[in-house]
Amino acid sequence: MMPLEWESLRKRLGSYRQDHLFQHLQSLSEADQSRLLREIEAIDFDELQRTIQGQGESVDWRALSARAESPQAIRIDQAASVQRVAYEAGERAIRDGKVAMILVAGGQGTRLGFDKPKGMFRIGPVSHRSLFAMHADSLRGAMKKFGVSIPLMIMTSPATDAQTREYFESHHWLGLSKDQVKIFQQGTMPAVDRETGAVLLESPGRIAMSPDGHGGIVKALRLSGILDDCREQGIEYFYYAQVDNPLVVACDPLLIGHHILEGSQMTTQVVQKRFATEKVGNVVSIDGKTQIIEYSDLPEEVAQQTNEDGSLKLWAGNIAVHVMDRAFLDECSRDPESLPFHLAFKAVPYLDSEGQLVRPSTPNAIKLERFVFDLLPRASKAIVVEGDAKDVFAPVKNAEGAASDTPSTSKRAISDRAKRWLAEAGVECSQDCLVEIHPLWAWDADDVKSRLQGSGSIHSDTYFA
Ligand code: UD1
Repeated sequence: MMPLEWESLRKRLGSYRQDHLFQHLQSLSEADQSRLLREIEAIDFDELQRTIQGQGESVDWRALSARAESPQAIRIDQAASVQRVAYEAGERAIRDGKVAMILVAGGQGTRLGFDKPKGMFRIGPVSHRSLFAMHADSLRGAMKKFGVSIPLMIMTSPATDAQTREYFESHHWLGLSKDQVKIFQQGTMPAVDRETGAVLLESPGRIAMSPDGHGGIVKALRLSGILDDCREQGIEYFYYAQVDNPLVVACDPLLIGHHILEGSQMTTQVVQKRFATEKVGNVVSIDGKTQIIEYSDLPEEVAQQTNEDGSLKLWAGNIAVHVMDRAFLDECSRDPESLPFHLAFKAVPYLDSEGQLVRPSTPNAIKLERFVFDLLPRASKAIVVEGDAKDVFAPVKNAEGAASDTPSTSKRAISDRAKRWLAEAGVECSQDCLVEIHPLWAWDADDVKSRLQGSGSIHSDTYFA
């Protein structure tokens, strides 16, 4: 960059009161200077200013929650005939090559205490397959069952991108074909001082950046060219899931079928919350629109409300499995304001005006994240479909020893589902052994039945593969 261009950038930053970002520029090597300038140029300061200034008008969750109703949902006990029709509609869309899978894997496993991308965490109870492998295998199972290749898109962040790519390459794309898998990176947002709105530097040549939340997927799908590629390939539906849940059924035809038959633009799979304050998003209906209120935003007295029969009024827990119309995402990706930012107050190390690194012990900064589920109220129709938590939800969130969502609870759930499928086929398993089924061996309970007719019993750890 020429000195003249520097000057104009400095002036532009000055108009946003962000020219302190230039403070240490002269002391940097040429390479570091251009890195920092690229970082600065990538920031949309108008958007940043609007967001920070708007923080005074942030959402009144208490008032909003007071209006929250239980959502209209397709419940789990629907008639078998309804299920069959939906399954067939979903199956047709998959066989016709209209479905692609998206995994979001940009988060860092901080709570889990794992220093690599979470997808690399080994979770198979007997096989020790990684989370990435569990998802890839479930997709391979769907491809085998429906006789079609299904594209897989994986969203990473700067913290997980390089290792994720390296992992897929060195593990032969986990049995998928290389051109079927597309790894793309989400964007980042700068952390700003919570009092002044000044963008924080983490070192003289580096801005304190963090991922822009899984909602960053809307922009990233457009910038990576994936939305256009998918349109050209005839993809109409995205099956979206989080990498941390190994019980996800890749491209479940039942969910896709309900989405199609109901004319939904965005569908959410939910499970019955186990208790009022469970740490899951609450899927609710407000003024007729489906919306998700995070557990941290829902006042406890609202969470505790019950119906006459004692069941929870706000019963629907978000497991972050969605079916989304490609055309809907495309339309949202053209509107920079399609998703609001959520503000999180965090302790972020920063360089002070003297150039000294400060490590605050209390939240000094605002981090900005978008959530994909905030697209729900924007959809012309957004339906909710209940699944059985035992079959579809066993996330790995916390380190061993925590009360819930640990590697142990997740492994146990994987094994328990396999045991239920075996029991349906007449095979009993003892309580204390672990059982696992590879999706290419059997993708669902029906596959198990057709493989193992009759009776039998299992008393030691077993892997059907
Ligand atoms: C999330 C949902 C919650 C839901 C729960 C189910 C949010 C805000 N809340 O909670 O409603 O009940 O999952 O398990 O999402 N990710 C990115 N990029 C980011 C941030 C996250 O790709 O910038 C990915 C992570 O890799 C992970 C997923 O999004 O796969 C969820 O992120 P996380 O922050 O762990 O959400 P939870 O608080 O567990």
